[in-house]
Amino acid sequence: MRSKTPTHPTRAAPVPEDDDAPLTVAEGAAAEGPHRPELAPPGLEGVAVAETLIGDVRGEEGFYHYRGYNAAELADALSFEQVWHLLIEGSLPTFDQLAEFRARTVELRSLPERVARFLPEIAGGADFVPLNALRTAVSLAADAFGLQPVLDIGPAELRGQALRMTAIVPVLLMALFRAHRGKPMVEPDPDLGYAASFLQMLTGNRPDAPHVRAVEKYLILTMDHGFNASTFTARVIASTGADIGSALVGAIGALSGPLHGGAPSRALQTLDEIGTADRAYAYLRAKVESGERLMGFGHRVYKTDDPRSTLLRAVALEMGGEQAKFAQHVEETALQVLNELKPGRRLYTNVEFYGGVVMNTAGIPREMFTPTFACSRMVGWTAAICEQAAHNRLIRPSAVYVGPQPPLPLPPGYSYG
Ligand code: ACO
Repeated sequence: MRSKTPTHPTRAAPVPEDDDAPLTVAEGAAAEGPHRPELAPPGLEGVAVAETLIGDVRGEEGFYHYRGYNAAELADALSFEQVWHLLIEGSLPTFDQLAEFRARTVELRSLPERVARFLPEIAGGADFVPLNALRTAVSLAADAFGLQPVLDIGPAELRGQALRMTAIVPVLLMALFRAHRGKPMVEPDPDLGYAASFLQMLTGNRPDAPHVRAVEKYLILTMDHGFNASTFTARVIASTGADIGSALVGAIGALSGPLHGGAPSRALQTLDEIGTADRAYAYLRAKVESGERLMGFGHRVYKTDDPRSTLLRAVALEMGGEQAKFAQHVEETALQVLNELKPGRRLYTNVEFYGGVVMNTAGIPREMFTPTFACSRMVGWTAAICEQAAHNRLIRPSAVYVGPQPPLPLPPGYSYG
């Protein structure tokens, strides 16, 4: 009888005491002959699958960068368009380049009539989920723009399509959101930059400058973050030579999962449930004692302060209001509780905690938090797609088959039917 103990961590179900049972992934890897591909760890954790010039996350240092520049510093000092140019064009723009880039991306905000017409239909359902509606609208827009396979176009044309899709996504999102509420879409104001226009298309009003700047910082901070699941998804689809629209639809799908971008409103929910400062300690302690996780804390990569949360805390406090002060009290209490109940786990505040507070204070509704994240991440996804296309090799890994030894004879009595 073969061993029932996996040789390295595996998420396979426990092995039944039966020699005909499927092997676990780890056993399968060990059992086969010399041509076996090497089995990567579950979740590809710690495995590098590409070289990139776009950026990197250094979890132990609490640092991440875009093309070598500290991302938090970029968010604090520059505009959305300047950092967008850096990521997609490869360099910070000169004064003239920025003016040209702004004019070009403003022009790309216009919706084809055939797309605009369908948006109320997409947004009409009672169970409207803005991110799902956006995913559908991106597919529709990609089709309307007649985007050709990445394999058939050159880098300049692909970058043009990347800009167009990034520029159009907030227009689609806000039109969908308003259509669901029976309101007409607000045309993007060509005099406004990306962040101001983002808020203006949501509410129909000229947004306050401090709110614009706060949201702009959030958007810049979340443009890219290493080789995350949605970026990887976009690259896999681009590697097949498919059009950029297909790659972006896939990336939005990956982002929608709760383990990736699907949960930024949950930290805010915690604040609501706590209600008042005097309830924080007992509430948070009870949560952790019952085995639950505190939303907005902990990170797979950061084992020190998440630089995004450090900047967003400052932004939230600068914006003012009772919620930011309350959030700071809850944060301090949560860190104390985690230190008491989870010592040595190195749990810190992550981007979700103050990200929710900032977006909420700026008037972005909760159901729009993840779609807002999708809008900024378009910059990272499109940069990754362009990089993949420029140095492409079809991404086609292998899997280790762990079922019964083939070829199996057909069971008796089976015929065509
Ligand atoms: N609250 C309480 N305990 C926690 C938390 C938390 N938020 N995060 C981790 N822990 C504990 C775990 O229970 C575990 O304790 P144990 O050793 O007693 O079993 C220990 O810390 C290590 O946990 P892991 O599961 O190994 O941590 P992992 O790196 O897999 O998890 C994750 C990272 C998923 C982000 C986790 O910290 C978590 O669930 N946080 C809450 C949800 C959240 O805020 N998600 C947003 C993340 S930011 C982003 O993705 C954009």
